[in-house]
Amino acid sequence: MPDKLTLDDLVLQNRRVLVRVDFNVPLEDENGMQEVADDTRIRAALPTVRTITEAGGKAILMSHLGRPGGEPTPSLSMTPVAGRLQELLGERVRSVSNIAGDTIEEAIDGMPDGGMLLLENTRFHPGEKSNDDGLAAELAELADLYVNDAFGAAHRAHASTAGVAAHFDEAAMGKLMEREIEYLTRVRDEPEQPFVAILGGAKVSDKIGVIEALSDPAARLLIGGAMTYTFMQAFGEDVGDSRVEEDRVDDARALHDKLEGKLTLPPDHVAADAFDNDAEHHVTEGRIPDGEIGVDIGPGAVEDFREIMETANTIVWNGPMGVFEMPNFAEGTFAVAEAMADATDRGALTVVGGGDSVAAVNESGHADDISHVSTGGGAMLAFLEGKELPGIAALTDREGV
Ligand code: 3PG
Repeated sequence: MPDKLTLDDLVLQNRRVLVRVDFNVPLEDENGMQEVADDTRIRAALPTVRTITEAGGKAILMSHLGRPGGEPTPSLSMTPVAGRLQELLGERVRSVSNIAGDTIEEAIDGMPDGGMLLLENTRFHPGEKSNDDGLAAELAELADLYVNDAFGAAHRAHASTAGVAAHFDEAAMGKLMEREIEYLTRVRDEPEQPFVAILGGAKVSDKIGVIEALSDPAARLLIGGAMTYTFMQAFGEDVGDSRVEEDRVDDARALHDKLEGKLTLPPDHVAADAFDNDAEHHVTEGRIPDGEIGVDIGPGAVEDFREIMETANTIVWNGPMGVFEMPNFAEGTFAVAEAMADATDRGALTVVGGGDSVAAVNESGHADDISHVSTGGGAMLAFLEGKELPGIAALTDREGV
């Protein structure tokens, strides 16, 4: 655990507390209105928000949403998020249409202690991603204390996640940030063996760093998802029309050679004749026929993965096994979710992260059966790789107080 200030170190009563949360959530259209499609990240921030308001502090929340490119983009407004937060808390959440300036200061002054305000999307401002110090200073003007609870964005050195902290005497971790660090540190630094890592998703390029970092501590690394086909290509196996990262084929071969015996690829696949839930599909061992694409791991792979997971005392999972959004190709991903739940039940430490895998775990109904569901995707991978996360590094050292 980094020796940083935590929320419990702060005196919150009558203080204005600027809280960076990660409310970068998926939205969906409901009868022409935008609504939050998955509120996992909003719910995960509630303990921090409640701690502040119940102690009589004013919580000024801010987050990015999507990638609006530094300019106001109505479809990425925080308004639907404010609505969902208000429903979850059962309390009024004020919102404003910008992230800095006099009108916000007035809104904060007019708020009672224990009140809440959500600023507009931080990425509507061009200074956010460039970590502009002028913007960081303006944000800091709004509050007495800073809390970063946005683990999911902690790998970004932006004005609201990193630069702003230097403008406060006390910049602390929120409760979610603390929990994320605690679980991921256990996995990364002291996993109880056997430690199994399951990595899926589309791209080898996103996972090379973490595969390398875990190659030493992990007893086994199980590979699923579309990145399987890049590995298959590396051995000259037919992948039909499956998605392959041509420029990563050499990396995949090198990883496989380096991790001989530890890396397990699916022995069979579900292949479909189109990227469509209703496409003709079948199980194929080894090669994927011409004109077809791999869309899920096969039943043999599920059996192998389950057997390996049954022996594990620590399991970390990031990335789906197939196109689980299409019910016909969701079996592999849901089977891994179920095996994670079984492992937790018999006492293993289980951690899952990454937007798609978390959505799959939620959909499978097993979210409450996993030791820790991380709100981080890229942040979780960066943490497991041992990288310093700017959103954590910027917080106040305990000995500095
Ligand atoms: C995420 O969803 O991983 C975080 O919110 C970071 O978002 P970003 O990749 O757009 O920076």
